[in-house]
Amino acid sequence: MDGAALLLVLLVAAVPLSAAGDAHPGYSDEGTCTVGADLRRLEEGGGRGRIIDITHAYVPDLPAFATGAVTGPVVRLKESMADGSEYNLSELRMECHAGTHVDAPGHINQAHFAAGLDVDTLDLDVLNGPALLVDVPRDTNITAEVMKFLNIPRGVRRVLFRTLNTDRKLMWRKGGDMSYVGFTEDGAQWLVDNTDIKLIGVDGLSVAAFDYLISAHVVFFKTPDIIPVEGLKLDDIEAGIYMLHCLPLRLVGAEGAPTRCILIK
Ligand SMILES: *[C@@H]1O[C@H](CO)[C@@H](O)[C@H](O)[C@H]1NC(C)=O
Ligand SMILES: *[C@@H]1O[C@H](CO)[C@@H](O)[C@H](O)[C@H]1NC(C)=O
Repeated sequence: MDGAALLLVLLVAAVPLSAAGDAHPGYSDEGTCTVGADLRRLEEGGGRGRIIDITHAYVPDLPAFATGAVTGPVVRLKESMADGSEYNLSELRMECHAGTHVDAPGHINQAHFAAGLDVDTLDLDVLNGPALLVDVPRDTNITAEVMKFLNIPRGVRRVLFRTLNTDRKLMWRKGGDMSYVGFTEDGAQWLVDNTDIKLIGVDGLSVAAFDYLISAHVVFFKTPDIIPVEGLKLDDIEAGIYMLHCLPLRLVGAEGAPTRCILIK
C-alpha cells in the first residue's frame, strides 16, 4: 500500500469516531460518561502541574568524551520527498550515552551485563517519582565531604545534583571538556553508605568526575539498584521537590539509552 492509500484508510477509519462525538465506541454509554468527567476533572482541576523539560535537545554538537568526537545523533533522511519519494523517512544513528541519558548496570560491570541487566530492565518505579533538586557548592566536585554537607535525609530516593556544569553551560559545548564536575570515588561511596538515593541525576556528561570515571561508576554499580541519569538540563529551575518522570527508550541489550526527563511542579 502506498502512502496516499494508507492515509485514506486512516481517514476513513477515523470518521465514525468523530461522528459519534466524544464517545469512543469501545466504551458503553455509562462508562464513557464517567471517563469523560474524570478526564475533564484531571485536565482542569490541577491533576497535572506545570511541566518543566529537563532534557537536552539531541543535536549533532553534543559534548563528547574525546575532543572533536561527534556523539550526537545523526538524523538522515533515508527517503526524501524532495527526491521524489512519496514520504519522508529518517533514520537515527547515535551513541547510547549521548545527551540526556540513563546508564544501565551493565555499563561498567561485566557481571551485570552478562546477567542481562540492560536498559530494558531498569525499574520505572525508580525512574518516576518524587525527586529533590539540590545545588552543589560551585567550587568542588561531589566528594564525601560535599555529600555530608548536603545532608540529604534518609528516605529521599531521587536526587538531581546541580553543579558548576550548569553555570558553565557544558552540555551546550561541543567536543570534550573533561573538567566537568561529577562524583569522586569517596563521594560515590558516601552516597551508597549513608543515603537511600537510587536515582542520581547530574547536569554533566557523566555521574563520575573524569579523574574517577571508572572508580565512581564501579562503586555505584556494585549492586544493580542505582540508576544514573546523566546530561540533565537543570538551568533556571528553583531547587526543591518535584515529581520526576524519566522514560528511557527500551533498547534491548544496550547498557545506556537516551531518555526524556521532565519535572512536574
Ligand atoms: C520532506 O523532506 C524534504 C526534504 O527532502 C523537506 O523539504 C520537506 O519539507 C519535508 N516534508 C515534510 C512534510 O516534512
Ligand atoms: C572536578 O574534577 C575534575 C577532574 O576530574 C577537575 O578537572 C575539575 O577542576 C574539578 N572541578 C572542581 C570545581 O573542583
